[in-house]
Amino acid sequence: MMRGDEVVPIESQLDWQERYCRAAGSPTSAEILRAVINDLQGPRSLSTVLPSHTRFGDLIGLRIMAAVHLLAIERRAPAVAIFAPTLGGVAPSRSADPGRANRQFHDAVIEAIASNTEMIGTAITEVPQTNEVGRSRLLRIALSMIRGGVRLFEFGASAGLNLRADHLPGDPALESGPMPSVTERRGCDLNPIDPTTTSGRARLTSYVWMDDLDRFERLRGALQVAAEIPATVVKQDAADFVGTIELHTGSTTVLWHSSMWVYLDEGSRIRISEQVIRLGAKATRESPLWHVAWEPLPDDRDHHELTVQVWDGGPGSGTVGRVAIGTTHGRQVTLVANDDVGDRDQACE
Ligand SMILES: C[S@@+](CC[C@H](N)C(=O)[O-])C[C@H]1O[C@@H](n2cnc3c(N)ncnc32)[C@H](O)[C@@H]1O
Repeated sequence: MMRGDEVVPIESQLDWQERYCRAAGSPTSAEILRAVINDLQGPRSLSTVLPSHTRFGDLIGLRIMAAVHLLAIERRAPAVAIFAPTLGGVAPSRSADPGRANRQFHDAVIEAIASNTEMIGTAITEVPQTNEVGRSRLLRIALSMIRGGVRLFEFGASAGLNLRADHLPGDPALESGPMPSVTERRGCDLNPIDPTTTSGRARLTSYVWMDDLDRFERLRGALQVAAEIPATVVKQDAADFVGTIELHTGSTTVLWHSSMWVYLDEGSRIRISEQVIRLGAKATRESPLWHVAWEPLPDDRDHHELTVQVWDGGPGSGTVGRVAIGTTHGRQVTLVANDDVGDRDQACE
């Protein structure tokens, strides 16, 4: 069982998420969860809307934060919107009287949830679809090690923004070469978001934390890129999708996933791993497979690791190497010295 599979009291998941948001510099989003925790421990007006227990890895706190943000974006919760920096509001922590502003914000959040129980009830059943383009920086590290043509595949792609990683901002200090030429971009999601529609853009924006104007700007830039660089995201389960991928001679097939493994059940994880091994066993120097992932460290919920598994039929084919660690949205990234990746003889020049 992964640590994310534990079933915990809802307050404990919200408390962890609140601390994570606060540490990441988003006190307003943290206050959304503080309002809910206080309510559950006090008046309990939300206890009919929210479950008493939750699977930790379902990250119900993210779902609640996004739903409240979406209500504000859609102007269905104006009393919340006036405190949301992403919507031009003033964060409670930055107001002249933070204590008073916080109490008003808490009231606005509880009122928004209590007045939209149907929407919230649906939102907490939906897997968070944060399409965080900060994670492109990690994918770009792997892409920068590849020479020649790349066919890029992603499962759990949300709106497919990271399928355009080679056109999104990277960090030259982390990359080891220029971007290869990406000739195909294809992903899957249980519920693909169309980044070219108003509702799709609103939904993607709702997953940005309220104080995080950098992420907000990054998303805005990525939406422009998405309008220019096409990528396909099909509605399909991850394990089925991986089973459809074939290798092509003369190009490197890159299979990427980020911040989605925790949402899979054990059966799906095993199926996907078996499909990767089956595909990897067919790989050669002329048709290599790179399996690249940015997922939480198994023993540390607060950090992610970038792993690269190169399959090319040569010695050590299929060895997993850790390349970098950092925080979920692709910040505080540190490269890890690794002999298993990056030095491989590339045949697909
Ligand atoms: C937190 S988002 C991450 C999106 C993207 N990978 C990123 O890093 O920005 C997780 C995504 O995984 C998708 N997902 C969860 N389970 C899935 C499955 N079994 N098959 C396909 N997609 C799935 C969700 O719909 C959601 O869009």
